[in-house]
Amino acid sequence: MSGPLRVGVAGLGTVGGGVLQLLNGNGALITHRCGREIKVTAVSARNRDRDRGIALEGIAWHDNALDLASDPNVDVVVELIGGADGIAAELVEAALKAGKSVVTGNKALIARHGPRLAALAETQGVALRFEAAVAGGIPIVKALSEGLAGNSLSRIYGILNGTCNYILTEMEYTGRAFEDVLAEAQQLGYAEADPSFDVDGIDTAHKLAILASVAFGTPLDFESIFVEGIRHITPLDIEFAAELGYRIKLIGIATHGEKGLLQRVHPCLVAADKAIAAVNGVFNAVVAEGDFVGQTVYQGRGAGAGPTASAVAADLVDIAQGHTHAVLSPPMAGSKTKSLTMDGNEGRYYVRLSVDDQPGVIAEIAAALRDESVSMEELLQRPNGSGQPVSFVMTTHEVAEAKMMRALARIARLPFIAEKPEVIRIETF
Ligand SMILES: NC(=O)c1ccc[n+]([C@@H]2O[C@H](COP(=O)([O-])OP(=O)(O)OC[C@H]3O[C@@H](n4cnc5c(N)ncnc54)[C@H](OP(=O)(O)O)[C@@H]3O)[C@@H](O)[C@H]2O)c1
Repeated sequence: MSGPLRVGVAGLGTVGGGVLQLLNGNGALITHRCGREIKVTAVSARNRDRDRGIALEGIAWHDNALDLASDPNVDVVVELIGGADGIAAELVEAALKAGKSVVTGNKALIARHGPRLAALAETQGVALRFEAAVAGGIPIVKALSEGLAGNSLSRIYGILNGTCNYILTEMEYTGRAFEDVLAEAQQLGYAEADPSFDVDGIDTAHKLAILASVAFGTPLDFESIFVEGIRHITPLDIEFAAELGYRIKLIGIATHGEKGLLQRVHPCLVAADKAIAAVNGVFNAVVAEGDFVGQTVYQGRGAGAGPTASAVAADLVDIAQGHTHAVLSPPMAGSKTKSLTMDGNEGRYYVRLSVDDQPGVIAEIAAALRDESVSMEELLQRPNGSGQPVSFVMTTHEVAEAKMMRALARIARLPFIAEKPEVIRIETF
């Protein structure tokens, strides 16, 4: 192929810095692999004077990131600023309109504006790539859009947020409370000062929306995802779960079938012997199930300079080799996808109740369950100090979510219930 692929990088933080380091360190290898050099010709960040520990000599600096879109020495813009709107969105749009391919690690942007930007890229005959936006270093977008392209996929699920997985793993290993471990994660730089995007499940939902659209070819639909975070998980639940043979993980799950598409993000009890239950700390994992291939499992680091730069580099290599096909393709002609809600989802449940110790308690709880056809599978009870409420835990057989929630609402109103019931869904992957 012709001369070097000239790259403009917007954002020189964790990921942007990592990309420059990777292209420097592995430049010769990459040139050999794609038959041409990938060369950073221009960059932009907020603070020009910051020492970033990366060589910027000979590279043009733009105070205004938008200038990368009109720089004649830039073929591809790499957006690593972040945020669903604002400068990141403006830059991506301007670059595509200027006929430049774009690589981004920005899941919020793709989850919110992906379809519009993908359509613009297609009209312009350029590429929009976002491997780094989902599961960091795991090449899952490529696996879904190319490696598994011969399959009809029915389900995709995964641990997509390293911060939550780190917190849940630490809570399990140390018995410490959520707030405690979160504070430590913030000190270590694993969690943001405002952790809500991570711990409330929104980041996982952004990634799930992207994965589902790539996997199923359905319209990207972030708004209809059911999202529940991990703030309510306690060490006691982790302990009870272990006693029952489970571990607790925050999982994004998308299923696609004749009835439609269900996308949900919530903590799950997962059988301890399943592959996904063994994914610890900041690691991510994705499981994709196809009709011919069966189950495929991918695991790796979901964040950090190196893994994320690795994903950005893969997209650049693809573009350098001339591959500009759409990854977020428009839905197949005539295909309609109904978005399903949780209400009709059939599942199993873990419920922990804290009750005042008095006669007739079990009978009243059993009546509330019976009236909604909820059938109990296991029951564990833990005696507390005298006069203290008693904790007991039950697991259920499969039942529709709406029925389970109605039974729980009735149980929560019973006079001997000392605390709001804790409910966690059990997933039998
Ligand atoms: N960190 C990860 O592990 C990870 C993993 C996967 C995906 N991502 C995604 O990658 C993107 C970047 O994340 P990051 O962790 O690298 O963020 P970061 O460390 O906060 O870096 C952001 C960069 O953007 C620059 N910036 C901010 N506003 C700007 C503006 N108006 N014009 C030009 N530059 C501007 C900052 O400049 P200064 O340095 O001068 O302040 C900084 O260099 C985000 O979309 C994120 O979601 C990150």
